[in-house]
Amino acid sequence: MSCLQSWPEPVARVQHLLDSGLLEIPECYVKKPSERPSFTEYATSDMNIPVIDLQDLFSDDNSLRQTTNNLVASACREWGFFQVVNHGISHQLMAATQEVWREFFHLPLEEKQKYANSPITYEGYGSRLGAEKGVSLDWSDYFFLHYLPISLRDEDKWPKIPVSCRELVEKYSEEVVKLGGKLMKVFSKNLGLKENYLEEAFGGKENMGACLRVNYYPKCPQPGLTLGISPHSDPGGMTLLFPDEKVSGLQVHHKNKWITVKPLPKAFIVNLGDQLQVLSNAKYRSVEHRVIVNAEKERVSLAYFYNPRGDIPIKPVEELITEDNPPLYPCMTFNEYRLYIRTRGPCGKAQVESLKSSH
Ligand code: OGA
Ligand code: NI
Repeated sequence: MSCLQSWPEPVARVQHLLDSGLLEIPECYVKKPSERPSFTEYATSDMNIPVIDLQDLFSDDNSLRQTTNNLVASACREWGFFQVVNHGISHQLMAATQEVWREFFHLPLEEKQKYANSPITYEGYGSRLGAEKGVSLDWSDYFFLHYLPISLRDEDKWPKIPVSCRELVEKYSEEVVKLGGKLMKVFSKNLGLKENYLEEAFGGKENMGACLRVNYYPKCPQPGLTLGISPHSDPGGMTLLFPDEKVSGLQVHHKNKWITVKPLPKAFIVNLGDQLQVLSNAKYRSVEHRVIVNAEKERVSLAYFYNPRGDIPIKPVEELITEDNPPLYPCMTFNEYRLYIRTRGPCGKAQVESLKSSH
């Protein structure tokens, strides 16, 4: 499988473009008029994605647990996106981890450049998604790292400064991966599968993929012309996002309109990715989302991706296939699958939909 070895153009750090006092954004960040945030149609502003209290998921009472499972099932079917509260992860840990990353992005450029990434693994400090020359760029920088499988974890590639960064990432990852495992059990049960089915399909507890992408969205002098991340669905299994609680920006595409998510304090935003659409044979669907930026405030978000291990073949689950419901997607490993977005950049739901029609 071929993969570009280096970026085709010199990489500009969006955050540092601003240091020069720039008033107009460079052409490569300007979106076509039809893709600009001001052009697209919005849902009424009181609309929000569902909020689910997970407290009862951990209860001894069967019927309370079932009620929560049912809420998750309907959010998965109807939205593919929901917020969870009372999820069991300490807010202090969440806030401290987010803060340490904010400090990282505020370090001098030379320090961050030590971690500059390449399109081979994407690990490290990055500023683009899509390795082809001339792809449209988004108004954000990021840091990407692997936590699982353990064979890919390399703490030397995580920031050494701020000094508490590695330890916080370690603790945060452990907690978020645990929560992800609980949600995967709920998804498995709701799909009528054994509780451990999805986790095993992803490679098992220690071998599944879990990676963190910290997004840094600098202030933008012309927020109406660009996007922090262009529309995309997440290629993996499931994402657990800790958004910036003070600055909204995430928008979810629902019934042909964009909804701006209003983050609840202490909540995680959960969304389904393409691999769950494939495994569930489209019973669950990944959902397109994007990020808008603004002129007044920077924004930091922590996106945890819960993925199949890269080399495991993923295809619709046999138990969910019938004569009336034939498999919609071909078998493919996640390493093969994610080359598409890594080469072309965010493309809405083009990839998972094109697989369907070609099969
Ligand atoms: C992502 C993503 C949303 C956000 O990293 O894939 O969609 O709010 N992030 O930062
Ligand atoms: Ni995303």
